Amino acid sequence: MISNRPLLRVKDLEISYYHKPIVQNISFELFAGEMVAITGPSGCGKSVTAHAMVGMLGDRWKVTKGQMIYNDQIINFLDEKEWQRFRRKEISLLIQESLNGLNPIRTIKKQMVETLRLRQKWKSKELEEYLHSLLNQVGFSHPNLILSSYPFELSGGMRQRILLAMMVSMKPKILIADEPTTALDAINREKVLTLLKKLQKDYQLTILLISHDQQSINKYANRIIQMNAGGVTS
Ligand SMILES: Nc1ncnc2c1ncn2[C@@H]1O[C@H](COP(=O)(O)OP(=O)(O)OP(=O)(O)O)[C@@H](O)[C@H]1O
Ligand SMILES: [Mg+2]
Repeated sequence: MISNRPLLRVKDLEISYYHKPIVQNISFELFAGEMVAITGPSGCGKSVTAHAMVGMLGDRWKVTKGQMIYNDQIINFLDEKEWQRFRRKEISLLIQESLNGLNPIRTIKKQMVETLRLRQKWKSKELEEYLHSLLNQVGFSHPNLILSSYPFELSGGMRQRILLAMMVSMKPKILIADEPTTALDAINREKVLTLLKKLQKDYQLTILLISHDQQSINKYANRIIQMNAGGVTS
């Protein structure tokens, strides 16, 4: 069920690089439990906006106007420590480069365990069971095989699904997926998008899908936000 109160409101946002406004007039709302797509021409500011929403703009970037309001709290001015907590608990950002974020010389199991332990302490049997159920949820029927693998032994689509499993394990309220399927072939693209849709339903997860892929957007998103060089107002 989609709630009638916005979980996140972005109001007239302006983001600048070295004091020069790069992205302007960004306004939209996200409601709990919906999958919203943002689409628009290359360079219009989709990724920069996504990074601003999780406090991951680089040093030279700044939100210079407007507000981001999460659950009635203005989040523009969080400090680094607060953003870290926010990213762990509230909004996760999945970017294409996260694929490189998997450590090449450590098994999937080691990396997943590390992520799970960030959130809570685990007894080893429970941890093992949870890992298996997470991997089942993202479509792996033989979790042990995956857990003992190194990233290079897996395809791009498989790695993407593992990253999704890791993000889901953090139980964020909003997942922003920035072009999650561009590097994938048609079959894996379907798999990842179907999975996102399933996660949206199973966990009431709010998903912001940034994509150029009009066909997928039409098929999977509840709503589409059109962005262009002048911004977006809705
Ligand atoms: N690291 C950077 N340094 C300077 N300018 C940047 C940087 N990253 C992005 N920009 C500029 O910010 C603007 C918005 O870029 P952004 O990456 O958000 O676009 P996008 O909508 O995500 O495009 P795409 O669809 O190609 O991913 C562009 O004009 C781009 O040139
Ligand atoms: Mg982008």
